[in-house]
Amino acid sequence: MEMINRRTWSSPLSRRDYRNSSGFINEGERVVLGIGLANSRGGSVLDIGIGGGRTAALLAREAANYVGIDYTPEMVTLARSNHLGLCFENMDARDLSAFANGSFDLVVFSYNGIDSVDADGRKSVLREVSRVLKAGGTFAFSTFNRNWHGFGQNRARSSIVWSNHPVKLSFRLLKHAMGMVRECRFAPLEERDGEHAILLHRAHDFGIMVYATTPGQLRSQLTESGFTGEPLLFSVDGRPLDGEMPANEEYFHVLARKPSLS
Ligand SMILES: C[S@@+](CC[C@H](N)C(=O)[O-])C[C@H]1O[C@@H](n2cnc3c(N)ncnc32)[C@H](O)[C@@H]1O
Repeated sequence: MEMINRRTWSSPLSRRDYRNSSGFINEGERVVLGIGLANSRGGSVLDIGIGGGRTAALLAREAANYVGIDYTPEMVTLARSNHLGLCFENMDARDLSAFANGSFDLVVFSYNGIDSVDADGRKSVLREVSRVLKAGGTFAFSTFNRNWHGFGQNRARSSIVWSNHPVKLSFRLLKHAMGMVRECRFAPLEERDGEHAILLHRAHDFGIMVYATTPGQLRSQLTESGFTGEPLLFSVDGRPLDGEMPANEEYFHVLARKPSLS
């Protein structure tokens, strides 16, 4: 999983995908980042897994202090060139030892980036995020739904977008064919039977394996890592969710809080 994902994130094709990204990915993200920023009251923000820096401007304009990190050096270079003057560092979310306890009011790990690491890695990320958050601070992220139908027998695939331009069309067909090869190679590596699931996702032409979860498992992991109360869950279109996750939700947004000092 680690090798597959790192290779995909550092490839020129991924950099091309994230090259010009900006703005919210959907209404659910707008809702959780809005609440997270309101809770942080213009304080310090840590933005993890920045890619090309899509969320950088959205967060930095509301924060007294903004730091963006990514474990892929090529992405850090891309984000720096897209957002001159903002601070970006090459760092792995599993080891945030560069930051003291209680450094941030808001930590963000957008677009299911947290799902790029395995079960132990996820525990480290949650522990580290909880440590660097101030009392009462917020963690906003999104994560794949283990029960999404696209992870089932009839795996969701991306379709080929037609082009009348022969070079463009050949390029798309080649990428699609490479995706089919990857699907055959990586599908046997999936883990479905344990407490957690590691599944192959169609993104980047079957270039990533993701950790997928359920609300129940997520709640326990957040509590173990020092978060308090019930996390708030939202669909991609911004509806509050509770109970079991419907099979048509590919992923969901989460807001978790550290206990306040009182
Ligand atoms: C799906 S992309 C999202 C990029 C960006 N947040 C966006 O929404 O456009 C995931 C990003 O997370 C980064 N990433 C994955 N695991 C990471 C980790 N353990 N520490 C830091 N960055 C990580 C990858 O390098 C990649 O740039």
